[in-house]
Amino acid sequence: MKVIHLSDLHLGRSNNIKKIARIREWIISHREQHGAEVIVISGDITNDGAKRQFLKARAVIEDLREAGFRVLVVPGNHDYGPLGITESRRSAKHFRRYLAQGENYPRLEIIDHTAFVLLNSMQGEFRSVEMIGAEGQLGRVQLEELEGILESLHDDPKVDRVVVILHHHPFDYKKFHVLRDARRFLKVLSGGDRDRFWTGVVLFGHKHIDHRFNDPGQSREAQYDLDLIYAAGSAVEQDPEGKFVIPVIDLNDLVIERFRFH
Ligand SMILES: [Fe+2]
Repeated sequence: MKVIHLSDLHLGRSNNIKKIARIREWIISHREQHGAEVIVISGDITNDGAKRQFLKARAVIEDLREAGFRVLVVPGNHDYGPLGITESRRSAKHFRRYLAQGENYPRLEIIDHTAFVLLNSMQGEFRSVEMIGAEGQLGRVQLEELEGILESLHDDPKVDRVVVILHHHPFDYKKFHVLRDARRFLKVLSGGDRDRFWTGVVLFGHKHIDHRFNDPGQSREAQYDLDLIYAAGSAVEQDPEGKFVIPVIDLNDLVIERFRFH
């Protein structure tokens, strides 16, 4: 199975709405070339969590769904309020209504033997003491639910891959740039001494840096017993030649192919 990973669209900033229209057109018209049927959007879909931005985002997602793609979304800090550093309950409600189709997180979607587990790394932010911050926090309740989901998938013969999706970085090299409860999250993912039979993949965004965490000598993938850890860059930021760079992840052979186009 192949997955297109989009992140950090920041609709409402600059001409990003125009850019996502081009990306949508490319995805629909190049189906044969990229071969993906699932599209993951790992947060910061809007720039300020404003209703008009969510309506634009929803229209793009609906177009992709109508074209036959499965589109999976999680929220980022910018979806929860202006500038991505304030948390507004109104923006959270907008996200839930317009992009999450009224559903709560964590969410489990099983598509062709692959279990996609969608997380809300802004959920714990509302429960933390300060109301300003962009580091992200899953929160105890969500982590417990995640643990329950992973337990239920553990011996499920219909599932041979688990893909966990969130906005914030749970595996970072720098302090203060990492999900607040990253350690607990990683503990839940590793499942203690439980044997796991599926391929483990973690996808996120937030920093606008395209990076697979498999550097020789300090591979986070090997360290955490995961098979693929990937931070997508911002899909609307173009390369030095002015081309969009869209990553397509092959979940069978764990290779990421980047497609470039104007
Ligand atoms: Fe972000």
